[in-house]
Amino acid sequence: MAHTRRKNRCRQCEDTVVCADNLGFMRSLGDGSCDLIYADPPFNSNRRVARADRSSPGFDDRHAGGLDGYLSFLRPRLTEMRRLLSSRGLLCVHLDWRTVHYVKVMLDELFGVKQFLNEIIWAYRSGGRPAPWFARKHDTLLLYAKHTGKHTFNRLRGGAYRTRDLRLTPDGRPYKSTRKGPIEFHPDGPAVSDVWDIPFMSTVSKERTDYPTQKPQVLLERIVLAASNEGDLVADFFCGSGTTLVVAKRLKRRWLGVDINPEAIAISKRRLAEAKTEQ
Ligand SMILES: C[S@@+](CC[C@H](N)C(=O)[O-])C[C@H]1O[C@@H](n2cnc3c(N)ncnc32)[C@H](O)[C@@H]1O
Repeated sequence: MAHTRRKNRCRQCEDTVVCADNLGFMRSLGDGSCDLIYADPPFNSNRRVARADRSSPGFDDRHAGGLDGYLSFLRPRLTEMRRLLSSRGLLCVHLDWRTVHYVKVMLDELFGVKQFLNEIIWAYRSGGRPAPWFARKHDTLLLYAKHTGKHTFNRLRGGAYRTRDLRLTPDGRPYKSTRKGPIEFHPDGPAVSDVWDIPFMSTVSKERTDYPTQKPQVLLERIVLAASNEGDLVADFFCGSGTTLVVAKRLKRRWLGVDINPEAIAISKRRLAEAKTEQ
């Protein structure tokens, strides 16, 4: 069934979470209906991804045909995501070392190289077994615009300036002397760059649902704040435990989630019922 839309708003898809294969679902949506799509697909880890205690089946990340099979699974889905973006929309695809380089080439082909905005490195600290190579402690988020230049981008600031050996104002902010007089650094801190140092979700975190591969809300907050505005439709077609949707709701965006796993949908619904919109 094609969903009816008015002024690029699909009323059936707003503030909804649906259990379905995302490909068929996306094909039922009209062009340009989403302003931000975050995609955190399986990573082609070649295993069943389950809770540490195996208390639930989790989801299958094995693909017939190996890497080729995985890329054939992603291609039509990423094609649909591009079609669904509004003219100022952005797609953020979250991957790791296994497939990010192949998917970057695919996205360049689907979007055009000029629409590529960022390769964001999410650097986290977590445990792990020693191996005879450097510890793999980052994921990569690829950010593409439907139309670079028209796209939504809100500059984020935070953290502290380096202060050692710098000239400081009386309130401790660095400044630069120019012919036109001193220029003070921005009071809200330096602009956020493309390397994000955000801890992995702790095993004792209050936000933990035990859904395997759940992402921390603080990571999604950055993406949602930077790449959408209040009232925009934020979609996650691999929504898992619903992290993106919870953040979108809190930050006054409309939201749409899809997952093929009924357990993911049940967890998302529970979290969304508990999530409060920020005043
Ligand atoms: C990496 S997890 C997403 C985790 C999520 N970001 C979170 O914070 O909980 C990937 C999800 O994609 C779902 N999935 C895999 N294939 C799918 C498909 N064809 N359609 C919809 N969902 C799918 C899995 O069930 C799994 O929940």
